[in-house]
Amino acid sequence: MIHAQLEARDPDISFADVPRHWMAGDRVASNIANAVNLLFPAGERFFVRSVHKFAQQIEDPELRLRIRGFYKQEGHHARQHEAWFATMKRQGFEIEEFLEIYQRVCYELIEKVAPEKLSLAATAAAEQFTALLARDTISNDIFANAAPALRQLLMWHAAEELEHKSVAFDVLQAVAPGWGWRAAGMLMGGSLLTTFWIAAFVMLNAQDRKLPEEPRESLRGKLGAARIEQLDEIVAAMKARRKKLAARVFLGGIADYLRPGFHPDEIDDRPLAEQALAAIGMA
Ligand SMILES: [Fe+2]
Ligand SMILES: [Fe+2]
Repeated sequence: MIHAQLEARDPDISFADVPRHWMAGDRVASNIANAVNLLFPAGERFFVRSVHKFAQQIEDPELRLRIRGFYKQEGHHARQHEAWFATMKRQGFEIEEFLEIYQRVCYELIEKVAPEKLSLAATAAAEQFTALLARDTISNDIFANAAPALRQLLMWHAAEELEHKSVAFDVLQAVAPGWGWRAAGMLMGGSLLTTFWIAAFVMLNAQDRKLPEEPRESLRGKLGAARIEQLDEIVAAMKARRKKLAARVFLGGIADYLRPGFHPDEIDDRPLAEQALAAIGMA
């Protein structure tokens, strides 16, 4: 398998004019995406730490190079997602308390007591989830009707997740190749991601209901391809898709990951990554 070159792009994204319901004017869809956004920066720094603890044991020069590319890409993602937090706060969301609990539970408590190999395995599993999300995002262009700044952030992130999707997995294979580690990592990564994603969504959505309404007319021209007159239709189509997403994308992806002999590079995602970068003028 020839891997994608892990180029560390660092786009300059301005979130200044993004409406609160940036996902086609829909509160629920916007907050589902906002919720996972809250988990990214600290999560990505954890991924980097977890891989870094084993990087010295890796002798393959190509994998060593990919590890360095992985650090840079995740570092840039974390910074850009944090830049988006600032706009969320201006929009009226209170996120500090949630971020602190998330930090304490996952990275001050669990990370401290978990074996380092388990953290690495959880990272490899989390990268399977980001790859699943990225593939779904790009192939269905799910941010076509989102605010352009968020579309750029998430398409760029998705492309780079596909580019580096097998780095943590290959490090895990090198230092802890057993199926048990892989499965334990999926159990830990999958359950923490699900728990905190749902918790973040419930919190954001509840806060959002109490914030002043955004008049539809104020969204005109701010939502990429979407026309205000079509928003109801777009939102209905998104709802229908969402119902299938959990079963098709996540459960299918978990089953795949637990299959003996699985490797993330079985699917060549390089064309999809290129497609995403081209769509946002970053090819
Ligand atoms: Fe990332
Ligand atoms: Fe990643």
